[in-house]
Amino acid sequence: MCGIVGYLGEGNVYDILIKGLHRLEYRGYDSAGVALVGKDGRINIFKTKGKVSNLEAFCADKNLDSSVGIAHTRWATHGEPSDTNAHPHFSEDGNIAIVHNGTIENYKVLKDALEQHGCTFHSETDTEVLAQLIEYIRLTNKCSLLSAVRQALKQVVGAYAIAVLEKDNPDTIIAARQSSPLVIGIGDGEFFLASDATPFVEYTKECVYLKDGEIAEIRRGESLKITNLDNVEAEIDVTTLKMSISQLEKGGYPHFMLKEIFEQPDTLRDCIRGRVVDRGSRIIINGINDHKDKFLGAKRIVIVACGTSWHAGLLGKYLLQDMCRIPVVVEYASEFRYSNPVIDKDDVVIAISQSGETADTLAAIQIAKKAGAFVFGISNVVGSSIPRETYAGCYIHVGPEIGVASTKAFTGQVMVLTLISLAIAQLRGTLTQDEIEQVGKAVLKIPTYVQRVLELADRIERLSLIFTYARNFLYLGRGYSYPVALEGALKLKEISYIHAEGYPAAEMKHGPIALIDQEMPTVIIAPKDHLYEKIVSNVQQVKARGGNILAIVTEGDTVISNIADHVLEVPEMPECLTPIITSVPLQLLSYYIAINKGKDVDMPRNLAKSVTVE
Ligand code: AGP
Repeated sequence: MCGIVGYLGEGNVYDILIKGLHRLEYRGYDSAGVALVGKDGRINIFKTKGKVSNLEAFCADKNLDSSVGIAHTRWATHGEPSDTNAHPHFSEDGNIAIVHNGTIENYKVLKDALEQHGCTFHSETDTEVLAQLIEYIRLTNKCSLLSAVRQALKQVVGAYAIAVLEKDNPDTIIAARQSSPLVIGIGDGEFFLASDATPFVEYTKECVYLKDGEIAEIRRGESLKITNLDNVEAEIDVTTLKMSISQLEKGGYPHFMLKEIFEQPDTLRDCIRGRVVDRGSRIIINGINDHKDKFLGAKRIVIVACGTSWHAGLLGKYLLQDMCRIPVVVEYASEFRYSNPVIDKDDVVIAISQSGETADTLAAIQIAKKAGAFVFGISNVVGSSIPRETYAGCYIHVGPEIGVASTKAFTGQVMVLTLISLAIAQLRGTLTQDEIEQVGKAVLKIPTYVQRVLELADRIERLSLIFTYARNFLYLGRGYSYPVALEGALKLKEISYIHAEGYPAAEMKHGPIALIDQEMPTVIIAPKDHLYEKIVSNVQQVKARGGNILAIVTEGDTVISNIADHVLEVPEMPECLTPIITSVPLQLLSYYIAINKGKDVDMPRNLAKSVTVE
């Protein structure tokens, strides 16, 4: 949540910062602002409520000349979205400006103490407290900005990524992180700073991911020094980015979400590449092969994740139990971390996160590590915190996902979980070679089959018109289709703001059946699988109560097609692979409904892509 950008160099500071903010807008878009050290030696802050485009309009007639600056796009935690609460924040004397991503948990105690020393606060944010604290320490202890930041951070409890500018020192940016991401781009005589590498990928591929507890002093003239809170110098570990600029653009699509839905044949191909070999007969997942003893000895697998990643995790449970015969539990990371969980050293904990930065998932990982479990991460963002905090793992390789509603990351996560299950089954001998080969071969066909499903887009767009004005939706599925129902409902909720509930189809008769009528569409995910006959009964139960049914069925289905009001046919697949195929029409349905309602699908209200606060 919240995006930070910084720049120190000879380029056009304002343009670089604004472009960077647009790239980071997926992280939050309640308000935005920039702080520029002007040629007059003053720090000028321009900030406003709303999206980055509002900030651009606000800045149109301002003097933006500068050679160093920091910027921020906000997802509000302390204080409502407003001009005043927008970042950057000044210290009271206007000497320093700060941008912050994270939450200062003890801000109230610090604020009270500073007020007693005569500080006045103008915003409701925890960030302003940090700005005032740093300046108070700098003035009281007559020390450098770097030293003041270090001393202030030692008093802070919580999560932060910060960038700080000082009026009298326009050749320096101080940056620090604890539990919120920050990466420094190293250009030719210039430095960039950002919450992820997307703001500077077209300027440089060389970067340094700041680690927890580290403070960077970025100085004009190619000098970068990283120390920790105890002033011990750290090694500078330079990474070369593999990301390309085209991955960050819409490529002719009206929205990132639609682009990402249509990218899925390619992203799934990338996800599978090198992992399913010998024409589907062998599965190679390095993170598993390198730790065979852990997976052979595992008594239980615990999956932790949030949101869409949790839905993928639930599918992981079905996959791992089916293929590997290991007991699996799936926990919301936010519940797990405070539930006093019983974790054994023979447990394998799998943490799933697209961003690799979700605060609750990171906290769950720490708990599992402390209990002595082997922790395996599944993530998309290379170099993010989760891959660094886990003992082994596997990237989904679907490229940057910018639409706030997760689509290609979900199918990538499910694909990786399928491959992991096959790899463990191979290791433990719980599937025969024939069984592995049958699924392995089908996996290789998935990209082509998803392409076929995408051909339904026009039909789904037309169908969406029928459903646009419904106020509630019910999504039903059984077995592998139950997590798909949950994910379909979440997708609709988050971008169209229509209430939708995902439910196990057979549980419907224990309550939700009371809601069924013509007004509430029921989406039923009913591919041909071992529960097909059962779900046919559920479809009949809904129809008998006058329900309006849209069913996702296997090509050639005649039974459900005769009962449901509308059907979308998807290609036949082995049961364990159906979720990847059936989730795609639901992504498109949500997208078109949200578009019909005129919603901003890439930046839905109140949401942020990366949830780095509790
Ligand atoms: C997905 O559409 C949501 N925006 C959200 O539920 C997301 O999946 C969740 O916040 C977890 O994020 P992560 O995968 O980056 O950890």
